[in-house]
Amino acid sequence: MSPITNEIFILPLSLIMFKNILGDIEAGVGKPLKFNLMYPSMSSLNFTELATRHGYVSEQHTVITEDGYILTMFRITKGRHCRRPIRKPPVLLMHGLLMSSDSFLDSGPNAGLGYLISDLCYDLWLPNIRGNYYSRRHINLDPDVDKDFWDFSNLEFGYYDIPASIDYILRHTKSTKLNYIGFSQGGGTFVIMNSKRPEYMKKTGVAILLAPGTKHTYTRSTLFRLLCETYLLYFPLLTDIGEYEALPLGGIVQKLSAFLCKDTIIASSGCRLALGLLYGPHPGSMETETVKVLFQHFPAGTSVKNMAWYGQSVNIDAFQNFDYGAIKNLQVYGSVQPPAFNLSLVEVPIVIIHGRNDFLASPADIEWLASKLPNLLEDFYVEEPLWNHFDVTYSRLTSKYILPKISEYLKKYSH
Ligand SMILES: *[C@@H]1O[C@H](CO)[C@@H](O)[C@H](O)[C@H]1NC(C)=O
Ligand SMILES: *[C@@H]1O[C@H](CO)[C@@H](O)[C@H](O)[C@H]1NC(C)=O
Repeated sequence: MSPITNEIFILPLSLIMFKNILGDIEAGVGKPLKFNLMYPSMSSLNFTELATRHGYVSEQHTVITEDGYILTMFRITKGRHCRRPIRKPPVLLMHGLLMSSDSFLDSGPNAGLGYLISDLCYDLWLPNIRGNYYSRRHINLDPDVDKDFWDFSNLEFGYYDIPASIDYILRHTKSTKLNYIGFSQGGGTFVIMNSKRPEYMKKTGVAILLAPGTKHTYTRSTLFRLLCETYLLYFPLLTDIGEYEALPLGGIVQKLSAFLCKDTIIASSGCRLALGLLYGPHPGSMETETVKVLFQHFPAGTSVKNMAWYGQSVNIDAFQNFDYGAIKNLQVYGSVQPPAFNLSLVEVPIVIIHGRNDFLASPADIEWLASKLPNLLEDFYVEEPLWNHFDVTYSRLTSKYILPKISEYLKKYSH
């Protein structure tokens, strides 16, 4: 084995060891430690607690998918600055990879899309995808024990989680339609849903996809590429040793990031640099306070299989189902190659909003998506040339650069 292979081999194993050690520390010390070490004061609050603290009226709901996953969905029924009746239909706002609904609150009431869209008087629903810290439950399976719990990737989000969330919202509000906003993975999985389950097409008025993630062939984020390729490479090994969960809240990566980035100096230097490397540099866009807070909720956890799917998506020029290798593909799909998602079936009116400096969902991949969608209303580039991937959730400038376009289309498709 060459030294480099050796290092790659040791890295995940040492992470797992560290994870266990840190787990022990946490188990012994718990919350008081967090308080004494001066984490951002709001960081331990959950979605409803945070929203309430800022004067927003919110609710917590439980959604059960056809295949038994128990998802937590939040709702903001009325914005603090909403001075008129709530508009109809309801709006669903879906988070991205390794995130949760909290990501839309982390930059605070002046910039978080959860707050801003509520302030425009929409009935706003924020689901959480299976596997993150709000949706780590199942009617039969125990995520800590059953490996079947973690047998999912983007396909299952699109096939089960989004439809279940949509049906719940429509039932609960007695609406026939809603408008959909999805960030990154939340955009790609919406497209998957519509290509696989055409009956959901008529349930969406307009879909606004913010930097949607489909194929990642032209991603410029070396760090993202390395991360998910490592998961792809070690997918069989991790499966063998019983590690099915990737980057959970409370795991080594999140705990270390949260611990380091709560310090103002480190947050404004090292943590900023790391975020720039991952998603594209945009100086001055993110408040230091947001950098400190976001790592209390990010990464939020997913399956190793989902990370491996991203590892495949950076190395092929197609938006397709999970590749199990020829033999298992034949069993699962009836073909040697995994089938691509058929985008010409997606007839929902779609608006894409994205940035030129997005390292992750690169303009080339998004142009490809735009060219395949049969009912694209607009492919909108944010005016600011440095607009990047994380700006959607964490920039202080969302109300200037993306909210007006979101508002324009929501209004057009509301009454
Ligand atoms: C959030 O906090 C509220 C109030 O403490 C609690 O009732 C609720 O169960 C919490 N929700 C989650 C998902 O932890
Ligand atoms: C995709 O859907 C279109 C429209 O129904 C159909 O004409 C086409 O054959 C499909 N493509 C594949 C590869 O299945």
